[in-house]
Amino acid sequence: MSGRDTAQPERKVVLVTGASAGIGAATARAFGKLGHAVALGARREDRLRAVAAEVEALGGVAFAAALDVADAESIAAWQEAAEAALGPADVLVSNAGMSGLDLLPDTPVEQLEREIAVNLVGPMLLARRLVPGMRARKRGDLLFVTSENAVRPRPYQAGYSAAKAGLEAAARVIGMELEGTGVRSMIVRVGPTGDTEFGDAMDRAQLGRALRSWQYWGVQRHLHWMTSDAVAAGIVRMQQSPVEESYPREIEIMPGGRFDAPDADPD
Ligand SMILES: NC(=O)c1ccc[n+]([C@@H]2O[C@H](COP(=O)([O-])OP(=O)(O)OC[C@H]3O[C@@H](n4cnc5c(N)ncnc54)[C@H](OP(=O)(O)O)[C@@H]3O)[C@@H](O)[C@H]2O)c1
Repeated sequence: MSGRDTAQPERKVVLVTGASAGIGAATARAFGKLGHAVALGARREDRLRAVAAEVEALGGVAFAAALDVADAESIAAWQEAAEAALGPADVLVSNAGMSGLDLLPDTPVEQLEREIAVNLVGPMLLARRLVPGMRARKRGDLLFVTSENAVRPRPYQAGYSAAKAGLEAAARVIGMELEGTGVRSMIVRVGPTGDTEFGDAMDRAQLGRALRSWQYWGVQRHLHWMTSDAVAAGIVRMQQSPVEESYPREIEIMPGGRFDAPDADPD
C-alpha cells in the first residue's frame, strides 16, 4: 500500500504554454493552487520565473523554461525538459497565442506566417509529441485554447481567425484519433478577456476601425470582458470532468452577468 493520503487529490503534471501572462499565467496559478506540478513555457523567462514563484507560493510545484511555439526545436527541448523535471505530462493547456490587427493586404508576410505558426502549427507539433506517451499510459488531457474568432471570424484578423478555426479542426481530429484510448482532446473557445496583454501591441486608431467593423458584422456585441482568473477557472473545471463519465469536448467561455441585456429584465 502506498502511504499517499487518498483523500488528497492526485498530483498531476500540467504543461501550460503562454504561461508568462494573461490566461496562461492564471491557468498555471489555478492548477498550482490545487497542488499540481506545472510546467510553464513562453519566450520571456523573467516573467515565467515570477509566475512560477506564484505557483509555488500557492502550494504547487513549478518548472519554468523558455519556449517559442513557432520553433519546432524549442518545442521539443521544452517538452523534454518539462517531463524530465516533473514526470510524464497528464495535461496540456495549449494556450500561447497572438494576433496582429490589419486588413489582409496590409498584413506583412512574416506577421501572417507567425500567426499561423503560433496559433496553429505550434500547438499541433506539441500535441504530436505528447500523444504517444499519453496513449501508452492510457491517460491524458489535451486542452486547446481557441477563440470565438474560430466560429465568428473577424475582419482585421484573417490570419488569427483562420489559425484558430484550423486549431479547432485539428483538436477534433485528434479527439477522433484518440477515442477509446483514455486520452481526451478538448476545445476551450474563449471570448473577450480584459486583463491580459493580448491587445497591448495593437494600434489604438486601428483598434477603433476594427471595432466599428466588428460591430457592423455583428461579431462584437458589447464591450464586456472576463478576467483571466475566470477563464482559468473554466479551464480547470473542464479538465476536472471525470474521464469515466460524459465530458465536454468543447466549451465556449463568455462574459456573464450582463444586466443591460435587452431581455434580462423584460418588464
Ligand atoms: N484576451 C482575449 O480576449 C482572448 C480572447 C479569445 C482567445 N484568447 C486566447 O487566449 C490565449 C491567451 O491569450 P491572452 O489573452 O492571455 O494573451 P496574452 O496576455 O498576450 O498572453 C499570451 C501568452 O502567449 C505567449 N506567447 C506568444 N507568442 C509565443 C510564442 N511564439 N511562443 C511561446 N509563447 C508565446 C506570451 O508569452 P511571451 O510573449 O513571453 O512568449 C503570453 O504568455 C491565446 O491563445 C489567445 O488567442 C484570448
